[in-house]
Amino acid sequence: MNFPKNTQPLATLVLGGNGKTGRKVAERLSKLNVPVRIGSRSGNPRFDWMEESTWRPALKGMDAVYVTFQPDLTIPEAQPLIEAFARTAVQSGIKKLVFLSGRGEKEAQMCESLIINCGAPWTIVRCSWFNQNLSESFLVEPIQSGVVALPVGNVGEPFVDTDDVADVVVAALTEQGHDGQVYELTGPRLLTYAQVVGEIAQATGRDIRFIQVTPEEYAEELKAAQVPPEFIDLILHLFTEVMDGRNASLTDGVQRALGRQPKDFSTFVTETVGTGVWKG
Ligand SMILES: NC(=O)c1ccc[n+]([C@@H]2O[C@H](COP(=O)([O-])OP(=O)(O)OC[C@H]3O[C@@H](n4cnc5c(N)ncnc54)[C@H](OP(=O)(O)O)[C@@H]3O)[C@@H](O)[C@H]2O)c1
Repeated sequence: MNFPKNTQPLATLVLGGNGKTGRKVAERLSKLNVPVRIGSRSGNPRFDWMEESTWRPALKGMDAVYVTFQPDLTIPEAQPLIEAFARTAVQSGIKKLVFLSGRGEKEAQMCESLIINCGAPWTIVRCSWFNQNLSESFLVEPIQSGVVALPVGNVGEPFVDTDDVADVVVAALTEQGHDGQVYELTGPRLLTYAQVVGEIAQATGRDIRFIQVTPEEYAEELKAAQVPPEFIDLILHLFTEVMDGRNASLTDGVQRALGRQPKDFSTFVTETVGTGVWKG
């Protein structure tokens, strides 16, 4: 489907603008000559989710916001902070909010409803697990070490690429016709973690094994790696609750928003091998 472009570019505050999706959104908007401001603790002006006094200066002069919440939508603070932020954004004259959400997470869906009811036009981009958790996040080290031990079994997840996420977000910010849409994004294939690790092992030519462990064993492993306790709880919650098979289905969100198929996992693997991030 072809959506008409916005007549005026919306100066956009990109929260988490140096993160997995925000970085790509900011790059794409800048290439389209859309004015962009990075919203993060190292941004100028600084934006910190945990410090409300930083919000208004970051919103000043902006028309739109790409809302990504850190560290994760499942923490108890997420809902009150997102509700307060959306209110402040509307008071500051924001005309459009695009919200990054998580698929099959009840806490994330509660946060979506706060955005939907904030009074400004919105688009929800509700995503399955990112491919980039394997290349830019907590799964890089296990892959480098050659043993990926996780508390998850034979459950298929339709990993989605952050290139697709960023393309949908940019479409929602620069084109008409995306207001009021909930785009549920998945990749084109269901993959178990054993298959994911198998594909990476084959592409890198390395011996990388996947092992299923208990949640208790995984928690011990994270503790030994000095992961802060609050993050251990968060990661365990995601693996034990969200990876229970509820997301083991494909959606047409990328096709609906962009009129094309999502990127396949194998393409991501081929591109990522070239970066060297998975070397032993
Ligand atoms: N990973 C997945 O598979 C997945 C799937 C669906 C949904 N989600 C959702 O995606 C969201 C995260 O988005 P993302 O992965 O694109 O971002 P991300 O990579 O987690 O963003 C990281 C950046 O956020 C900034 N940041 C960290 N804490 C902050 C704070 N307190 N205030 C302001 N900025 C802060 C940091 O920059 P500074 O150091 O400069 O502050 C950091 O570089 C989460 O809400 C998660 O629930 C994730």
